[in-house]
Amino acid sequence: MAGEVQRGLEDVVALESRICFIDGKQGRLIYRGYDIRDLAARSTFEEVAYLLWYGRLPTAAQLGELARRLESLREIPAELARLIDLLPASAGPMDVLRTAVSALALLEPGEGTPGPTSIGGAQRLTAALPTILGAFHRRRGHLPPLEPRPGLSHAAYLVYALLGREPSELESRAIDVALILHADHDLNASTFAARVTASTLSDLYSAVTSAVGTLKGPLHGGANERVMELLDEIGAAERAEEVVRAKLERHERIMGFGHRVYKVEDPRATILREWSRKVGEAKGNLRYYHLLEKVVEVVHREKGLYPNIDLYSGSVYSLLGIPHDLFTPVFASSRVVGWTAHVLEEYDDLRLIRPTSRYVGPTDLAYVPVADRA
Ligand code: SDX
Repeated sequence: MAGEVQRGLEDVVALESRICFIDGKQGRLIYRGYDIRDLAARSTFEEVAYLLWYGRLPTAAQLGELARRLESLREIPAELARLIDLLPASAGPMDVLRTAVSALALLEPGEGTPGPTSIGGAQRLTAALPTILGAFHRRRGHLPPLEPRPGLSHAAYLVYALLGREPSELESRAIDVALILHADHDLNASTFAARVTASTLSDLYSAVTSAVGTLKGPLHGGANERVMELLDEIGAAERAEEVVRAKLERHERIMGFGHRVYKVEDPRATILREWSRKVGEAKGNLRYYHLLEKVVEVVHREKGLYPNIDLYSGSVYSLLGIPHDLFTPVFASSRVVGWTAHVLEEYDDLRLIRPTSRYVGPTDLAYVPVADRA
């Protein structure tokens, strides 16, 4: 391998980890030994967060303690709320998130210091992200700040923080499952960015700031918002064939399809497709669901590509009334657990991540003083 260029680090094994295993050929996803299908069917986001951070499923007492701790960490400092109020209402929510994480590190120094105490920063950020997003969203909508609502699960609190209402049981479970599915995914670009940052012994908040900036990209977490733009462009299912084929003919990427690792359907997409149908049926609105099924059929026939997690997440969020530009922040509010689990693992077995490149530019050029350059 030495000297061979692997663009995009495709198939490069950068490190050993005990957090997440993806079998791209079989379409399997494992968190700390547990199949995502079991976790999505039987677990909660809080339980999966415990699993990813501590490496084992919690006892009932441990789970209760984590849930209480996360609830106690939801409030944000008044200075951060004031900073969010100063940001332009037109700011992109992922940019707001990136700024807020960075600012929180300044307001609460020491929480993210590299080492065993970093778990405190991990839980603080996980608990506070919904509050940060909700504070910005309500501010840009000229809505008053929300009253705290004790007793809500993390998923239900996320919906409450964003929409100012408590979700139904079905909505709460749909978001809980979506958060479980988004929590970790091996060395995806944003997690790798977090690990590179942590590998220099920089702090946990800097690592999460790197990760937020990386997740924003449309080839990564930003795809879920662009899937909805595609569905709105298509409009009716009978236009799907025409619109998608025209895009493919222009060599455009169809957002929500393809994956660097999965060579078959992303198992998370399989699960989310079911939730898109369940929530759509409950709301009497299967428009997005049927549209997506048509797009899947065309893209698979024309390009042999399969859906990834980003294809269906937006249809679930949309049905709850979550605005499209908050979809990637919702992704981040789950993936912060995976990012921080990997940061903790990096601190525990630290090795500076520093690949090299093959230099193909000129060498040994003679220096010409600026006065003599044409
Ligand atoms: C996420 O890494 C992770 O684990 C990420 C993630 C996570 O949980 O963290 O799973 C979350 O980011 C999911 C992916 C979300 N992004 C999108 O849906 C954007 C659209 N997808 C593509 O951009 C693409 O599939 C990537 C970026 C996801 C993967 O790209 P690769 O592995 O670099 O593949 P490639 O660009 O080399 O494409 C291989 C071929 C090309 O065809 P040719 O030019 O060789 O003829 O497949 C084509 C591509 O053009 N192709 C697509 C396509 N994806 C690949 N063609 C049309 N639409 C697409 N979506």
